[in-house]
Amino acid sequence: MHILVVGGGGREHTIIKKLKENIEVEKIYALPGNGGIAADAECVPVKATDIDGIVAFAREKRVDFAVVAPDDPLVLGCVDRLEDELGIPCFGPRKNAAIIEGSKVFSKWLMHKYGIPTAASETFDDPDKAIAYLEKQDYPAVIKADGLALGKGVVIAQTFEEAKLAVKEMMCDKVFGESGSRVLVEEFMTGPEVSVLAFMDGKTVVPMVSAMDHKRARDNDEGLNTGGMGTIAPNPYYTEEVAKECMEKIFLPTMHAMNAEGRTFKGCLFFGLMITPKGPRVIEYNCRFGDPETQVVLPLLKSDLFTIMQAVSQQKLADVKVKFRDGAACCVVLASDGYPKKYASGFEMTLPELGCDEHLFVAGAKLEGGKLLTAGGRVIGAVATADTLEGAIKHAYEVAEKVKFENKYCRKDIGARALAAK
Ligand code: AMP
Ligand code: GLY
Repeated sequence: MHILVVGGGGREHTIIKKLKENIEVEKIYALPGNGGIAADAECVPVKATDIDGIVAFAREKRVDFAVVAPDDPLVLGCVDRLEDELGIPCFGPRKNAAIIEGSKVFSKWLMHKYGIPTAASETFDDPDKAIAYLEKQDYPAVIKADGLALGKGVVIAQTFEEAKLAVKEMMCDKVFGESGSRVLVEEFMTGPEVSVLAFMDGKTVVPMVSAMDHKRARDNDEGLNTGGMGTIAPNPYYTEEVAKECMEKIFLPTMHAMNAEGRTFKGCLFFGLMITPKGPRVIEYNCRFGDPETQVVLPLLKSDLFTIMQAVSQQKLADVKVKFRDGAACCVVLASDGYPKKYASGFEMTLPELGCDEHLFVAGAKLEGGKLLTAGGRVIGAVATADTLEGAIKHAYEVAEKVKFENKYCRKDIGARALAAK
């Protein structure tokens, strides 16, 4: 089996390592991959958004299966092209289902239509009307750009002035381009957040072990929002009772809603949840594996990932076992100091030999003259699994300590909140 994996971050490195556990997998191409992924796959310099380039490469190499991991190529219809033009089976939703992440206005409409619990909201395509509405709201209020905005399209406005500014930037100054042509104004919800990734094939939904992300750059959830500075799994707020409620009120209804709309979702659907005093609510959907959630979820997966992915693409998920090991995992993201703003990179990295239950998933690095150099804000995820969450956190920080590069920065409190909640 020759597999093509679209993407080039820590999430893709994790997926690739897991796919390699299947002995049928002979070759993996990563488009574009990165300097660290190069140890596990053949990296090809085709951007994840270059759909023509991806299709041309897949045709030339006659790959047997494709995994499209990031949001942009999914929203752009990469799976449709690979399936329709080349007949290549894919893991990942088609364009008409990827819209569940690609348009927040669509996903809100879907949730309201099918009674899936989420924050109350209003949609606006006229900035004056949005501002008139915001004048009458309680604060904080949440303003969201409709389309993809590199994870930056959400503003929690503390005052009307802040809300007005957010609307002006999104709708008039177009800081996110067309993604901000429409905005949502949402009720501000409170409660712990949980990330649940689920395999879904339109007939069956199988949630994976739950996770907790740490989005802010600094300890104690201070500093700017980032792509994610670390994760733990399982998330202690996701009790069996909550899981049951989510399955009944959120996961199954979402799958059925997408089917009813003629938008069958096949792939990994990411439920961003908030456990509010009134029960679990959807904050957002993503049409893909989360990053860095994947780095803690897949190391706990006991079953074979490639078998599951093939089953999803054939809508036979019900026929395969999806088992997770007991215990916990922690991922500490090692970043370039300064991220998510300006940072220096290009520094040589030294990686330790890995022991049992230890993993390193490379997010931003390049190979130059045989040396691995830092090349990104988020550089590498140091991951460990253990029987307990406490053990996994301690062990992940030991791995993190052994990774050396100049300008290395990480949060020191990944998992602390989860431990306190237990
Ligand atoms: P999103 O990109 O939609 O996941 O939003 C990013 C972050 O903003 C979430 O992880 C939450 O922490 C926060 N957020 C989004 N929507 C709401 C809401 N309605 N109430 C409270 N916080 C929210
Ligand atoms: N960690 C959140 C995301 O992947 O969007």
